[in-house]
Amino acid sequence: MSATDNGSGDLPILPSTDFNSFFHLPFAIYHLPFRFMRRAIYPGSFDPVTNGHLDIIERGCKLFDEIIVAILVNPEKQPFFTIEERRETLNHVLKDIDRGGCAVRVDNFQGLLVHYAVAQKADAIVRGIRAISDYEYELQMALMNRRLEPSIETVFMMPAEMYSYVSSRLVKEVFQLGGELEGLVPPLVETRMKQKYQGKLT
Ligand code: PNS
Repeated sequence: MSATDNGSGDLPILPSTDFNSFFHLPFAIYHLPFRFMRRAIYPGSFDPVTNGHLDIIERGCKLFDEIIVAILVNPEKQPFFTIEERRETLNHVLKDIDRGGCAVRVDNFQGLLVHYAVAQKADAIVRGIRAISDYEYELQMALMNRRLEPSIETVFMMPAEMYSYVSSRLVKEVFQLGGELEGLVPPLVETRMKQKYQGKLT
């Protein structure tokens, strides 16, 4: 039994120590907070960000110390909002969510997600799963990403049931056909969509 093992099979309990002996521990315990900082990437198109996305970020904040909301720059797609507009909107709406002690920042990336995740020294990729229909596609992506980069884990999270049918694609469709978006996206997103539609946002 080591000096720190209580013999119960539980995690070892560090000996109570005074200030001087703290700095003589065999490893640099004062580095632990940095080593154990957990950083996740939450990638997506966010065109536009929905309340479902924000719900996932809030939940992710309970697991990670830092979340990078990473917008994919996809030159092959014609988006509703530009990358800059999406970044600006995300930065606004993220101020209002419950982040706890988690640092949330917005970025964009191009190319392979796992390359970006490694460059950001991330531990995990967070993806929201709303229904079984999401699972098949998400599983394929997660397994491919794991093959490409085994050091990065994918964490699937479920949004609140009330967002289980909310997607950016449907939000745009409902908006373009004159439907009500209240409760599906933050009010700022609806305002920005109206401005964009009326040509006030270039
Ligand atoms: O919000 P979306 O559109 O569902 O997000 C999809 C996204 C951005 C996560 C996915 O398309 C992606 O990771 N693209 C980056 C390119 C890449 O790494 N492709 C291989 C995935 S296995």
